[in-house]
Amino acid sequence: MVYFKVLSLLPLLGLVIAQNATLRYMPFGDSITEITCWRALLWEKLQTTEWASMNFVGSGTKENNCKDSKYDRDNEGHSGFLAIDIAKKNKLDGWLKTNPADVITMHLGTNDFVQQNKNVAEVIAAFTKLVGTMRTHNPNIKIVVAQIIPMGTGNYNTKIQQLNAQIPAWAAGLNKTESLIWVVDQYTGFSGSVDLRDGVHPNANGDQKMANVWYPALIGAFAAAKAEKGTATAVRFVA
Ligand SMILES: *[C@@H]1O[C@H](CO)[C@@H](O)[C@H](O)[C@H]1NC(C)=O
Ligand SMILES: *[C@@H]1O[C@H](CO)[C@@H](O)[C@H](O)[C@H]1NC(C)=O
Repeated sequence: MVYFKVLSLLPLLGLVIAQNATLRYMPFGDSITEITCWRALLWEKLQTTEWASMNFVGSGTKENNCKDSKYDRDNEGHSGFLAIDIAKKNKLDGWLKTNPADVITMHLGTNDFVQQNKNVAEVIAAFTKLVGTMRTHNPNIKIVVAQIIPMGTGNYNTKIQQLNAQIPAWAAGLNKTESLIWVVDQYTGFSGSVDLRDGVHPNANGDQKMANVWYPALIGAFAAAKAEKGTATAVRFVA
């Protein structure tokens, strides 16, 4: 009798053991996410914390001459991409299908202004659609959105500043208890002349600044995601 009771519990235990609580973080954006080294610096910074096993996810795996053979290179940075195109073509939908995420960072908008002189309102509308896509895949996803870095060439910073100025209120309007959005300011304190290698992409100095700005918000996002995954496992065990 007792023997059979123990046996009948085994499938339940199996269910719990099969849970994989490894958190997944997707760095999402354009070339400022893809062909830069802030991700390596961020990963290194995490290694001395409780978040050392954080799984970076995304379809991109290329080396960027960051002189770091260890870091998790997976990311969803796409050089040259506009926020508006990613939204219109539903690209993020496929990317998240392939690589689900618990936490995502978004640094987008530069190409919208530089390549196609899009309006700030169009970019904000694209951001709204992208947040919707993130939540369709994971209603509990934690989102960190950047007020983006300046350009070092051309007259693009007026629009970049206008976009950045709108991001906090836009994000607050979409904030949800189960899917928090944090805004980080990558613009203030970032120099278009000193921190860029080519007028567009951060140099070593700029990479360090970007990693430092992402870091505290990401730690908060990781903690919130972890707290929820623990709850999800407990609920399933009871069921
Ligand atoms: C959990 O997922 C991570 C990342 O995909 C993987 O490296 C690890 O082996 C998995 N662990 C288990 C117990 O399946
Ligand atoms: C969203 O809510 C959280 C928790 O209250 C808060 O920390 C965060 O700043 C809010 N985000 C925005 C963009 O207001």
